[in-house]
Amino acid sequence: MVATVVLLSLLRLLSAAEGTDRDALLAFKAGVTSDPTGALRSWTNDTGTAASFCRWAGVSCSAAGRVTTLDVSSYGLEGTLSPAVADLAYLEFLNLTNNAFSGAIPDSLGKLTRLRYLSLCDNSFSGGIPGTLGGPANLTVVYLNNNGLTGGVPAWLGAMPALVYLTLYQNALTGTIPPELANLTTIQQLRLDQNFLEGVIPDGLARLPRLQFFNVYGNRLTGEIPRGFFNMSSLQGLSLTKNAFHGELPPDAGARSPNLLYLYFGGNRLSGTIPASLGNATKLQVLSLANNSFTGQVPPEVGRLCLNSLQLSNNELTASDAGGWEFLDNLTNCDALYEIQLDGNNLGGAMPTSIARLSPQLQGLSLAGNRISGVIPPGIGSLVKLQTLDLGHNLLAGAIPSGIGKLKNLRMLQLKGNELAGPVPSAMSDLTQLLNLDLSGNSLNGSIPPSLGNLQRLTLLNLSGNGLVGNVPSELFGLSALSLAMDLSGNQLDGVIPREVGQLVKLALMALSGNRFTGDVPAELGSCQSLEFLNLDGNLFTGSIPSSLSRLKGLRSLNLSSNRLSGAIPPELGQMSGLQELDLSRNDLSGGVPAGLENMTSLIELDVSDNNLDGNVPLHGVFANATGFNMAGNSALCGGAPQLQLPPCRSIAGSDSTGGDHLLLKIALR
Ligand SMILES: *[C@@H]1O[C@H](CO)[C@@H](O)[C@H](O)[C@H]1NC(C)=O
Ligand SMILES: *[C@@H]1O[C@H](CO)[C@@H](O)[C@H](O)[C@H]1NC(C)=O
Ligand SMILES: *[C@@H]1O[C@H](CO)[C@@H](O)[C@H](O)[C@H]1NC(C)=O
Ligand SMILES: *[C@@H]1O[C@H](CO)[C@@H](O)[C@H](O)[C@H]1NC(C)=O
Ligand SMILES: *[C@@H]1O[C@H](CO)[C@@H](O)[C@H](O)[C@H]1NC(C)=O
Ligand SMILES: *[C@@H]1O[C@H](CO)[C@@H](O)[C@H](O)[C@H]1NC(C)=O
Ligand SMILES: *[C@@H]1O[C@H](CO)[C@@H](O)[C@H](O)[C@H]1NC(C)=O
Ligand SMILES: *[C@@H]1O[C@H](CO)[C@@H](O)[C@H](O)[C@H]1NC(C)=O
Ligand SMILES: *[C@@H]1O[C@H](CO)[C@@H](O)[C@H](O)[C@H]1NC(C)=O
Ligand SMILES: *[C@@H]1O[C@H](CO)[C@@H](O)[C@H](O)[C@H]1NC(C)=O
Ligand SMILES: *[C@@H]1O[C@H](CO)[C@@H](O)[C@H](O)[C@H]1NC(C)=O
Ligand SMILES: *[C@@H]1O[C@H](CO)[C@@H](O)[C@H](O)[C@H]1NC(C)=O
Repeated sequence: MVATVVLLSLLRLLSAAEGTDRDALLAFKAGVTSDPTGALRSWTNDTGTAASFCRWAGVSCSAAGRVTTLDVSSYGLEGTLSPAVADLAYLEFLNLTNNAFSGAIPDSLGKLTRLRYLSLCDNSFSGGIPGTLGGPANLTVVYLNNNGLTGGVPAWLGAMPALVYLTLYQNALTGTIPPELANLTTIQQLRLDQNFLEGVIPDGLARLPRLQFFNVYGNRLTGEIPRGFFNMSSLQGLSLTKNAFHGELPPDAGARSPNLLYLYFGGNRLSGTIPASLGNATKLQVLSLANNSFTGQVPPEVGRLCLNSLQLSNNELTASDAGGWEFLDNLTNCDALYEIQLDGNNLGGAMPTSIARLSPQLQGLSLAGNRISGVIPPGIGSLVKLQTLDLGHNLLAGAIPSGIGKLKNLRMLQLKGNELAGPVPSAMSDLTQLLNLDLSGNSLNGSIPPSLGNLQRLTLLNLSGNGLVGNVPSELFGLSALSLAMDLSGNQLDGVIPREVGQLVKLALMALSGNRFTGDVPAELGSCQSLEFLNLDGNLFTGSIPSSLSRLKGLRSLNLSSNRLSGAIPPELGQMSGLQELDLSRNDLSGGVPAGLENMTSLIELDVSDNNLDGNVPLHGVFANATGFNMAGNSALCGGAPQLQLPPCRSIAGSDSTGGDHLLLKIALR
């Protein structure tokens, strides 16, 4: 009798509880407005079998038939998270990772006292982190990253005695880091990066006994880096990039960091020297101090580390023939190295030949923007995996070694702004993966090797500002991938432009300025459909301006100045609706100014000075005043806006001729 009563009441309890879980799940489902894969199709209010909801997709239950796990991650669900989910009183794992839930995180989650794992990351939740999540004392994992959360980092997070992973990154959190987080004695990973946090890092965080990874990259944090971080044997990764930290690194920075794998300190206001003790952080793989104000020499001890990546760009580091390059010599012992960035420092002295003995695994080497002299070591060809080699803006002299042709994986080769002399080595044609080749601003001579036409992936070619002579090989115009720029300006190139130029249909910028090109401006240029900038100024081009140029619908700037062009300005130019700058000055153009140019609302600069133009100047658009219009040095222009102070036009044959009409008249008279 008693037993029956107990059993009955137990059953009643169970079914009540069961009803609660079922209802909570159905309420959860009701919050879902879009279920593109039909993942929740199995979730129906079918009361036929006991605890049937335990078999619903994403649901797991305890032996007693209570929901312990709700994992609907990556189901593509949209909607809001129903507060009723907190009625799943036995829930331990709630995983909504990678859906499109929006709206607020319900306060009610604080009721889930058994919750151990909460992942709402990679959704679109907005609003603040609820003030009452503090209930679940057993929470070990809280992933709220990649949402649109606003407001502050709540202090109660510090009161979670079991928290191991806390990720709040990529939200829009503001305010300061609460010092209470220093009570997270079990935390191993703390990620607050990519928010708008301000203030200092509370010192206490640098004493968390189990902390392995701490990341506050991309906030607005200030103050000094708490010294304690360099005293944490547990610490493996510290990322403070892109904040406003200042001060110096402690002299013993690496002495007590045996497990440190990476230090990302780039983009702050750190100063002082790089501590030699970092060489004692023997597991260090990435040392990134770029974009700060570090001074002095790079200590040789840094070269003792077997780093993957050394990023020291944009500091004030020094080296000379008397010292400062030993670290590089010592790095030659490290096979793991794949990247060295030393650009934008004050490194001087001769280029160390040891760069040729760096790891053959090296993929990126940048020494640009220093004061390095000497020659490019011929042995550089042994860095066969190099993809990026940037030696631009130094004082390098001598020839480009033909060994460079062995760097068959190169994507980018920047040698601009040096004092390199001699020819463009024909071995360069072996660099068939090259996307970006910039040899500008050197003293290279000889002619352009036709074999450069082999560089079929090239998107940018800059040979400007050298002493290159001879014709442009027609092979160069077969570089069908050229899309960013072909800049051959400022050389002593001559001859006619090959008709093949019309094959460059992807090219946005062509600059042939300041050479000795002769012959016509090729009509085929009209086929270069992607051109936005065309600079042919400062050559010896003759003939008339081809009307085909008007087919270049995307052209923003056309410079034909300082040539020997003659004839009329083609009226078709007035149909180039995107043109902003047109420079036809210093030629021998004649006839009128095409009236169509006045209707080009985009045109803000028109220079037709020093030609032989005559006739009526239009009134509107760029002609309205002298701001963007220069017509000085023409023989007989008249009319125009009063501001231009031109003589009035004499009426010809009873018409108030526009330039266009005038042109017709002239042709008719011939
Ligand atoms: C589920 O069905 C039961 C029994 O028919 C009903 O009492 C309950 O209100 C339903 N729940 C929902 C969320 O529709
Ligand atoms: C939560 O979902 C993500 C994405 O599917 C998965 O990687 C993770 O392992 C899940 N968490 C748990 C505790 O199952
Ligand atoms: C927290 O976890 C411990 C150990 O797993 C367990 O004994 C305790 O009941 C849990 N507390 C809650 C509120 O679930
Ligand atoms: C850490 O917790 C202790 C007791 O649990 C409390 O007294 C102290 O105020 C907390 N510290 C911070 C910074 O919140
Ligand atoms: C570093 O750790 C040692 C021993 O754990 C301790 O005595 C010292 O005060 C710590 N120094 C700093 C700056 O935290
Ligand atoms: C340094 O700053 C430049 C320019 O803002 C940026 O492109 C680069 O990624 C930064 N480097 C590092 C290592 O932070
Ligand atoms: C590095 O460690 C060695 C051996 O533990 C020690 O002798 C040396 O002083 C340390 N160097 C620095 C710069 O801390
Ligand atoms: C750098 O390398 C040289 C030559 O191998 C060696 O004598 C020197 O001890 C190394 N320096 C450090 C700090 O490891
Ligand atoms: C190119 O320059 C080098 C070094 O300045 C010089 O020796 C050589 O004669 C020049 N070659 C040509 C073709 O001008
Ligand atoms: C080519 O290089 C010169 C000199 O380095 C530079 O001024 C010019 O802008 C570059 N051309 C392009 C298209 O980037
Ligand atoms: C300029 O625009 C006006 C008004 O749209 C139009 O009447 C005129 O014909 C245009 N002039 C030329 C030369 O296209
Ligand atoms: C010149 O004309 C342009 C375009 O009509 C106008 O924006 C600008 O204010 C004028 N400048 C002067 C000095 O009148």
